[in-house]
Amino acid sequence: MKINIAVVPVAGLGTRLLPATKSQPKEMLPVGRKPVVQYVVEELARVGMQRILFITGPGKASIENHFDLNAELIQVLRENGKEDLLAELSFERAPIQYFYTRQRQQLGLGHAVSCAEPFIGNQPFAVALGDSIIGLNAESDILSRMTKCFVERKAEAVIAFMEVSQDRVPYYGVAKPREDSEYFELEDVIEKPSADEAPSNLVIAARYVFAPGIFEALGQIQPGSGGEYQLTDAIRLIIQGGGKVYGVRLRADERRYDVGNFDSYFQAFVEFALADEKCGDSLREYLKNML
Ligand code: UTP
Repeated sequence: MKINIAVVPVAGLGTRLLPATKSQPKEMLPVGRKPVVQYVVEELARVGMQRILFITGPGKASIENHFDLNAELIQVLRENGKEDLLAELSFERAPIQYFYTRQRQQLGLGHAVSCAEPFIGNQPFAVALGDSIIGLNAESDILSRMTKCFVERKAEAVIAFMEVSQDRVPYYGVAKPREDSEYFELEDVIEKPSADEAPSNLVIAARYVFAPGIFEALGQIQPGSGGEYQLTDAIRLIIQGGGKVYGVRLRADERRYDVGNFDSYFQAFVEFALADEKCGDSLREYLKNML
């Protein structure tokens, strides 16, 4: 079985990044040279995804424009002999088909994923959050490992997890693993528990693989805090119904760069800029002198 279709939710309001996100999507904020969502798409292309469905919302048209072919720009660069700049647009020719649907009300990530149902139908698929990069320059094959686990273990869902310090746990969906191994079965998964109640410090890290049964579970959940439909609650229902759900750990070199708040956005930008082939060294010197 090949999983080659991915859903990328990008409809969130991004209120934690105001005013930067008042009239532009957080998924289009640059990290180093590229907008966040371009790294996400490059990661998906590298692991063999062929169709990407974006779940978009108000004010997100620039994401669609970014993945279109811009013939006029290509012509201007070609006429002016700017081959190096033309190379920067090579992502436009990735062998991927793009699709878009709107989440008409921002009712949370679970609701966003449920908007994909008419498109996905009865096949397994990946979900990659459009505001999170996995690994420096998105060099991660986490989704390949997850789809392997999904197929080998006949799973209903596979989720990427990362370790965080105990004080960070209340901000995430947290695993209750049955065993301690690279792929581990989940006994439960809990959305934003208090630090005392958290069953581990393994937290959900922005990538999922689902069997189509997730849609039925999403149809059964009630809105949680803030009136949002939580994807974690639907995963929990699957586990409670006897479905096998597994976690796969990110490796130490596969940090999750979450662009959803300023702290981690600034860190991601600086780390990517320092790793930049052309500008990294001079930025490092500049920062050394400044600090
Ligand atoms: P977040 O959980 O960070 O929510 O979304 P948000 O609404 O974008 O941000 P804040 O809390 O207002 O700052 C994680 C991912 O899920 C998408 C977002 O676009 C982001 O890529 N999302 C979230 C949706 O597509 N729809 C939603 O209703 C919520």
